[in-house]
Amino acid sequence: MSSIIIIYSTTDGHTREICSRLVRVIEQQGEQVTLIDIEDVSSVDLAGFDKIVVGASIRYGKHDRKVYEFIEKNLQILDDRPNAFFSVNVVARKPAKRQPDTNPYLKKFLKEIAWKPKKLAIFAGKIDYPSYSFWDRNIIRLIMWMTKGPTDPTVTIDFTDWEQVEDFARMICEM
Ligand SMILES: Cc1cc2nc3c(=O)[nH]c(=O)nc-3n(C[C@H](O)[C@H](O)[C@H](O)COP(=O)(O)O)c2cc1C
Repeated sequence: MSSIIIIYSTTDGHTREICSRLVRVIEQQGEQVTLIDIEDVSSVDLAGFDKIVVGASIRYGKHDRKVYEFIEKNLQILDDRPNAFFSVNVVARKPAKRQPDTNPYLKKFLKEIAWKPKKLAIFAGKIDYPSYSFWDRNIIRLIMWMTKGPTDPTVTIDFTDWEQVEDFARMICEM
């Protein structure tokens, strides 16, 4: 049995929800898994884990600055063991933009960091217009209008392919 840590960066909680599903599937496979917010990661000793997974959402074109800081600080320990990274964004609602070599955010991110994750995934995120501020709601609506997505400000849409998330969880167990 290996011990796995999943470190996540979220703003509205959807990446954490994806992680919870990963945890459930990984535990069903009999592996031990710890889930931690990147805000609290300094409180754990990463050396105690056999595999490290990092997941982060995109907000206005970028992953959070803390994700970059974490990677820079822990590059050696990441490289020393099986590892994976996943990004959550709504551009990925289009299957053609859900591959490591087709998702613009992941492509850019990988050029910006020294870490070369051994496994990668991109998951489509969630749009929850009613929960957004006036400003965020209308910017996202504009982006959605430009990319032919939903613009009704009353809707919440989960674009995540949960089967894809579960497949990724099984891949984590095997890596
Ligand atoms: C203010 C805001 C900005 C966003 N910017 C982008 C963006 O630039 N590109 C994109 O594909 N998705 C964008 N999204 C969609 C998020 O990536 C998506 O909602 C994701 O599920 C958020 O995950 P989280 O709740 O873990 O932060 C944005 C969402 C919000 C609320």
